Amino acid sequence: MAFPTETVYGLGADAFNPAAVARVFEVKARPSFDPLIVHVAGADEVVRVARGKGTAGVDPRVAPLAERFWPGPLTLVLPRQPAVPDLVTAGLDTVGVRVPGHPAARALIRAAGTPVAAPSANPFGYVSPTQADHVLAQLGEKIDLVLDGGPCPVGLESTILSLAADPPLILRPGAVTREQLEAALGTPLEVAGPTERPRAPGQLPRHYATRTPLHILDGPAGPAPADVGRVGLLAIIGSPRASGYAAVEILAPDGELASAAANLFAALRRLDAAGLDLVLAEPCPEDGIGRAIMDRLRRCASPR
Ligand code: TXA
Ligand code: MG
Repeated sequence: MAFPTETVYGLGADAFNPAAVARVFEVKARPSFDPLIVHVAGADEVVRVARGKGTAGVDPRVAPLAERFWPGPLTLVLPRQPAVPDLVTAGLDTVGVRVPGHPAARALIRAAGTPVAAPSANPFGYVSPTQADHVLAQLGEKIDLVLDGGPCPVGLESTILSLAADPPLILRPGAVTREQLEAALGTPLEVAGPTERPRAPGQLPRHYATRTPLHILDGPAGPAPADVGRVGLLAIIGSPRASGYAAVEILAPDGELASAAANLFAALRRLDAAGLDLVLAEPCPEDGIGRAIMDRLRRCASPR
């Protein structure tokens, strides 16, 4: 079933049931080399799917990170327990795990009594769903149930931090920022670049993509270009110079980048449904959550 998290809607299956997990891959048309994130109800449940380097417990860095960022939009990649099915981890010796911030997600995991493996509830490669109707529109026929928890407050997928890498590596930027993680761990962190042979398919150059071509502007938008047909504009705060667009989405009328993140995917879906030939997107400053917003925009803009 699909369920809300604070980041995006997930399509969940019992992480220990390979047949259920296989249906998730089938419904999403997701390649089996792409591992799923396992969702648990609390940090004490991480040991059900992950283990430490030695025999006892999990990595000692998990506790301080869990203290600061869980429940919340941070996924940790850790050595896996052998009991986790290969389909969940795509045969890797690591597993991605997080404690979601949305109370409905944690209630669901508790009620299920099992860790829940869940990718975003969208067809592979498309924009992630941030509302229940996004899930219904694309996967409605194929899934058993959607739990409607309203719009997702964060709106971008979780930050993924690999503690299996040495030094630790941010595989996907998100609402938990590099600066926050560096402060919590007391070490500088690298951010993985896009790669064709991904550690996380969220790293694929083209992902989170609309069908309509999208181009990122160098600065605030001016008038719509002539002779490219119907042009849409994805703006951050809006500009009086922007005129002549067939559709306009303003992501952060309040000027807050967190609002831009929360509105991004729903706005991309509306623009993608507006019969446009091109979408122009304004850039935002690349610090804090702005880095994650620009990461998703660049993947959407990447040539097909
Ligand atoms: O916010 C989120 O993380 C949402 C919600 C539903 O929790 N989930 C999500 O899942 O974005 P998905 O499958 O769309 O993206 C998960 C990413 C994939 O790119 C996957 O490759 C990566 O996490 N991942 C999972 N396990 C991994 C592992 N063991 N090593 C490296 N990357 C991993
Ligand atoms: Mg996804």
